[in-house]
Amino acid sequence: MDSGLSATARAHPNIALIKYWGNRDDALRLPANASIAFNLSGLETTTSVAFDPRLPADSIEIDGVAAQGPAAERVRRHLDRIRALSGQGARARVASRSDFPAGTGLASSASAFAALTVAACAASGLSLPEEHLSRIARLGSGSAARSIPDGYVALETGARDEQAFAHSLAPSTHWDLVDCIALVSREPKSVGSSEGHRLAATSPLQPARVKDAPRRFEECRRAILEKDMLGLAEVVEQDCLLMHSVMMTSHPPLLYWLPATLNILHQVRHWRAQGLAVAFTIDAGPNVHCLCEAASLEQVVSRLADIPEVNQVLVCHPAPGATRVP
Ligand code: DP6
Repeated sequence: MDSGLSATARAHPNIALIKYWGNRDDALRLPANASIAFNLSGLETTTSVAFDPRLPADSIEIDGVAAQGPAAERVRRHLDRIRALSGQGARARVASRSDFPAGTGLASSASAFAALTVAACAASGLSLPEEHLSRIARLGSGSAARSIPDGYVALETGARDEQAFAHSLAPSTHWDLVDCIALVSREPKSVGSSEGHRLAATSPLQPARVKDAPRRFEECRRAILEKDMLGLAEVVEQDCLLMHSVMMTSHPPLLYWLPATLNILHQVRHWRAQGLAVAFTIDAGPNVHCLCEAASLEQVVSRLADIPEVNQVLVCHPAPGATRVP
C-alpha cells in the first residue's frame, strides 16, 4: 500500500484525431498546433514512485528491466522537474509496467509520462489541479499531456508553458467510438517522435499544415460533440494525411508507411464507399488505427482480420484519464 513518500498511478495511451507534429519550442515541448485525442481502454501503464532519502541515485525499472541510457535520463529529468516544484530532495525508486502486447510499436510515452507525473507528484506531496498535471506531463512527452484528463481531450497550444495543457472535451462515456488498431509490424520505429518533431520545420508543407489546423480542430470538435461519424472521418483522414505529407517531405524524409499500411487505407475508403462508416488514422509508424462506432465494430474487425498482412487487431474504447491507484 502507498504511504508517505510513495504513490502509484495508472494511465492510458491516446490516439490523436487531430495530430500535432513539430514543436514551437522543443525544450518546453510546446506543440506547433492544438490537437484532439481520446484515451484508449485496454492499454495501460501503471507506475509506482517512492522517494527514499537513503537512495544514492534514482533507480528506474521499466517492464521489469533496469532502465539505462537516454530512456533512464528522460525519466530522471522528469523527476527533477517534480523535485524542483515540491522541494522533495530525495532520489526515487520508480517501477513502471505497460500491459500492451510486446513489440507492437504503439506509442507508450504518453501513458508512461502521464502515470509517472501523477505518481511522482502524489509521492512528493504535491496536490495539483488537472491542468497543471497535464502541463508537467507535457514536459516529459507532448502527447502525455492528453493522457491526464478523461475521455475526449484537447491539447491547447500557446507561446508559454502555462498555455499548453489538455482538457476534456467530453467524457469517455459521451460516444462509444472504437479504435480498431490493425498491427502490420512489430519493428521499433527507426526515427522516434522527438527527432521527428525537430524535422517538421524542414518540410515546406509544415506552415500550410499548421495554418489550417484551427479549422480542422474546430471541425473535429464539432463532429465529436454531435457524434457525426462521416464528418469525423473526413477531417481525421485529411489531418492524418497532412501530417504524413510533412513527414515524407522533411529533410531527411520520414516514410513510416509499409505497403500493408497503404493497402489498409484503400480498403477503409472502399468499405466507407460501400456504406460502412469507418475512418483511418496513423501515428508515427506503419500500424493503422481504424475508427468506427461500436455498432460497426464486429464488421470492421472481421474485415481487418481478413487482410493477410494484418497480424493482430486490438480493440480500444474511450478511457478515463490518469488516476492514482489506492
Ligand atoms: C505522431 O508525444 O510522441 O503521435 O514529446 O517527443 O514524446 P515526444 O512526442 P510524442 O508526439 C506525438 C506525435 C504523434 C501525433 C500526435 O499524437 O498528436
